[in-house]
Amino acid sequence: MANRANFGSRLGAILAAAGSAVGLGNIWRFPCETGAHGGAAFIMLYILCVVIIAVPVLITEMITGRDARANVYDTFKKLSDESSVGRAGRVVWRVAGAMCVLAGFMVFSYYSVVAGWTLEYTFAAGADQLVGKTPEQFGADFQAFSADPLRPAAWLCLFVALTTGIVVLGVQRGIEKGSKIMMPVLFLLLIVLAGCSLSLPNAGRGLEFLLKPDFSKLTTDVALSAMGQAFFTLSVGIGCLMTYASYFSNDVNIVKDAFNVAIIDTCVAILAGIIIFPAALSVGVNPDAGPSLVFITLPNVFQQAFGSQPILCYIVTVMFYILLTMAALTSSISMLEITTAFVSEKFSVKRWQAAVVLGLVTCCAGFACSMSFGNWADVKVFGMGFFDLFDFFVAKFAMPIGSIFMCLLLRRLGREKVTAMLTNNGTLCMRWFPRVFYFLVSWVIPLLILVIFVNELL
Ligand code: PHE
Repeated sequence: MANRANFGSRLGAILAAAGSAVGLGNIWRFPCETGAHGGAAFIMLYILCVVIIAVPVLITEMITGRDARANVYDTFKKLSDESSVGRAGRVVWRVAGAMCVLAGFMVFSYYSVVAGWTLEYTFAAGADQLVGKTPEQFGADFQAFSADPLRPAAWLCLFVALTTGIVVLGVQRGIEKGSKIMMPVLFLLLIVLAGCSLSLPNAGRGLEFLLKPDFSKLTTDVALSAMGQAFFTLSVGIGCLMTYASYFSNDVNIVKDAFNVAIIDTCVAILAGIIIFPAALSVGVNPDAGPSLVFITLPNVFQQAFGSQPILCYIVTVMFYILLTMAALTSSISMLEITTAFVSEKFSVKRWQAAVVLGLVTCCAGFACSMSFGNWADVKVFGMGFFDLFDFFVAKFAMPIGSIFMCLLLRRLGREKVTAMLTNNGTLCMRWFPRVFYFLVSWVIPLLILVIFVNELL
């Protein structure tokens, strides 16, 4: 495509990709998985999964996206056609591409529900409404809020509108600029909050809990969690980074950038742990994962830990929810970009038209997910409410299966072509790397993911 958009700078491209990776997954999932599964022992296993499995898939997404310079669906179509497949094969690759587009839509729908909750809590914290409550009140209030049909829906629509606004502005003026502003602020907030948490009495115990390796807790189940976390947190398998990389320039060193993204993402996750554990343990609360951590446990923890200094308590709580909202926003723009690129290129409509229509449809699907916490709690599909169903489809099905397809697509292209893609047509010197990478991606990674996938389903 002659006039396809591009990122304006290398930094912008890395920050956008890192923004996609850094999200709610880092802040509410990683610290708790780590705490529950053996501290530093889990971190080591997680880093192993990131380096051996998730980063190679990330590199695969990026080199294929940049090579095809198209949306996910067309990337699968173009590259599989290049490697001459039969008619049945052609259908399979198109289905794989379509699955990624669908997953992009679904992840945006349910992620926006939680992001909407973070907006509510940001405003509540700003209006100083999160103080003076007992732990039970925090629980009851969150329950009542999330079960309400209208309030969460209104926040959901606002969040989708914010995301749509950024995507409408385009690759350079929206995604790149937004990431360049939000990512440094996010880092600053993380560091300030970690500093506040570390200044609490007994902070050392929290750090020890997070960072002391306990190898006795490492089981196969833990290995599966480490792997699942690595996939979700790096946003691999559904084409976010494939779409972003289609806007990369030809001289970007993708291998280096993929590692940079993984390093930034892991640092953010560890910093989130440094915020949560010392604060929670200093007041004797055991942190758990998921919505209850962020919307019930933590406001209570902040209140107890910093309660003696009301202004500090106010600032920490507000900063924490702003941090969550921004992390969610940098991820959600990458989700909406998957479908926007697809719709605008496939149906030859303008970017803003595609983004607005998709935003509206997402509000409807997100509403169904939101209602599964309230009036529609009994509406089940395959035994799950809409929210859980969407989450299951994306995290447990589309991400692993999509990753396997991406690896197999690369294998079809052959080692020579893959080496050229990695080394920017031989302009970068990589010695043994392309060989090892091709072997990993052709055999080891698809098999590993398959084993894990089957294990998770059983
Ligand atoms: N990586 C994001 C997070 O950690 C989630 C995400 C999943 C983003 C899939 C894009 C695609 O929260």
